[in-house]
Amino acid sequence: MIQVMAERLEGYPFFPMKSDFEDGFTKVFNPSDGKNYTLNKSASGILHYCDGLHSISEIRDRISKATGIEADEVYHKLQSILTEIYDKGLIWIKEDRLEKQPVSPPITCYWDLSTLCNLSCKHCAVEGGDVKTDELDTKECLNVVNQLASLGELSLVLSGGEPLLRKDFFEIARYAKFRGMDLQLATNATVLDARKAREIKRLDMSVQVSLDGSNPEIHDAFRGKKGAFKAALRGISFLRKERVPFTIGFVVNKSNMHDMEAAAQLAVQLGAENFRVISYVSYGRGKSFQELEPTPQEFKWIAEKIVEMKKSLEIPVTEAEFEFCLKPGMGSDITDDQHFGCGGALGSFSITANGDVLPCSFFEGIRCENVREYPLAWIWENSPLFNYFRDLKSKDIKGSCKNCQWFLQCNGSCPAANFAYGKMLRPHVHCWIAEENK
Ligand SMILES: C[S@@+](CC[C@H](N)C(=O)[O-])C[C@H]1O[C@@H](n2cnc3c(N)ncnc32)[C@H](O)[C@@H]1O
Ligand code: SF4
Ligand code: SF4
Repeated sequence: MIQVMAERLEGYPFFPMKSDFEDGFTKVFNPSDGKNYTLNKSASGILHYCDGLHSISEIRDRISKATGIEADEVYHKLQSILTEIYDKGLIWIKEDRLEKQPVSPPITCYWDLSTLCNLSCKHCAVEGGDVKTDELDTKECLNVVNQLASLGELSLVLSGGEPLLRKDFFEIARYAKFRGMDLQLATNATVLDARKAREIKRLDMSVQVSLDGSNPEIHDAFRGKKGAFKAALRGISFLRKERVPFTIGFVVNKSNMHDMEAAAQLAVQLGAENFRVISYVSYGRGKSFQELEPTPQEFKWIAEKIVEMKKSLEIPVTEAEFEFCLKPGMGSDITDDQHFGCGGALGSFSITANGDVLPCSFFEGIRCENVREYPLAWIWENSPLFNYFRDLKSKDIKGSCKNCQWFLQCNGSCPAANFAYGKMLRPHVHCWIAEENK
C-alpha cells in the first residue's frame, strides 16, 4: 500500500476536501476523481494539521511531542502517508506558510442559481439536470443579492444549470438590478421566449448563449438532446428581436473543433457580438467524457485556427488559451514571488446553487464556506480557500513552468483544468510547451 517515495515532500500541506471524521477515521470525497476515500487514524491525525499553517517539519515535531516517538521515525512515516494522499490529489503543498492577503472588492460574481436543466450536456461541469442540491430559496437568494450589493460595484453573471428555468429568476434578477448590479446571463437559450427576451432587455442584461456546433448533429449530440440546436436558434431570434446583445459561447472539444470556423460564421449570421471559445475542462459530467478533451497539440491547432479566424471574421473572437505561446514570450526572468493563478479569488468568485462560495465554479465539491453560515463579505476576505488562491506564487509550481519564457503571460493559466486531474500546482494540462505534456 505504501509507495516508494520519489522525492521528499516539503513545505506547507493544505487539505481542501470535504470530509467526515468518525471513530478516528476520515471519510473524504475527492470531486476531481469522483472517488470516496477512507483514511486511517494516522492519516486522519495528520490531516488535522494540513491547514497551510503548519510545515511538514512542524507537523513532525508536534506528533513526536504528543506521542513520544522519535522525530526521525515520525518523519519517515509522515512522508509515506503524505505522499500517498498527495498522489491521490487530496492535499496541495505550498512553499510558504499560508498568509492572509489584502484584497480589493470583487469585480465579478458567477452565480449558479440552480442545477435544474432541460439538457444533459456531455461536458457539464455542474452536472445540470435535476435539482439535486439543497438550493437556496427565493428569500435566501434575495438576501444574497443584498450581501452582493454591499460588496461594491459588481458585475453579476447569472448561470446554472439553466437559470431561466428557475421560476423566480426574474424576481432575483430585478432585485439585483435594483441594487445596482450590472447583469449578465449564461443560457442554453432553449426556453427563451418573447416575454423573457423583453424582460432581459428591460434589465439591460448581456447574454452568453451556448452553441457548440454549426449544425444540429454536432450541437445536439454534445448537448444530450435532440432539438436543442433548433430551440437555441429560436431563443436567439427573440433576443435579436429585442436587440439584446449576445455572445456565442462555444466549448471546443474533439467532436466540434473542426466545426469551429463554421460555428463562428453562424454566430456572425445570427447577429452575435462576439464568438467566445471556451476550453473543455474534464469536470463534473465532463469527467465521464474525458476522451472529448483536446490534447495539448490539438489545443495548439485550435489556437492557430483562432488566430487565423480572427483575421477575417466580422466579429471579435476571444483570445485562445495559450495563444500567447504562438509569439515570443516575455522571457524566463521570473521572480519566486510572482503571483500565480487566474482571477478567481482576486477579482471574481462563484456561488453554487446551494450557496457554497468558491474561487471558481469548477472547484464545486471542495471544502469552502457557505452563505447560510457566513456573511459573504467575511468569506471574501477571510476564507482560507480564497486566501490560498491569492497566496499562490511562482515558486509553488512544480515542474517546467519555472523556466518558461511565457510564464509572465500565463501565470499558470486556469488552475481548475489541472484540479480536474488532481494536478494542482503543476504545468497546465492543456499546455503544449510544458515538457510534462509531451
Ligand atoms: C454551466 S453552463 C450554465 C448556463 C447554460 N445552461 C448553458 O449551458 O449555457 C455555463 C457555461 O459553462 C460551460 N461549461 C459547462 N461545463 C463545462 C466544462 N466542463 N468545460 C468548459 N465549459 C463548460 C457551458 O458550456 C456554458 O458555456
Ligand atoms: S452546460 Fe448548461 S445546458 Fe448543458 S447540462 Fe449544463 S447547465 Fe444544462
Ligand atoms: S503552463 Fe507553464 S510551461 Fe505552459 S505556458 Fe504556462 S508557464 Fe509556460
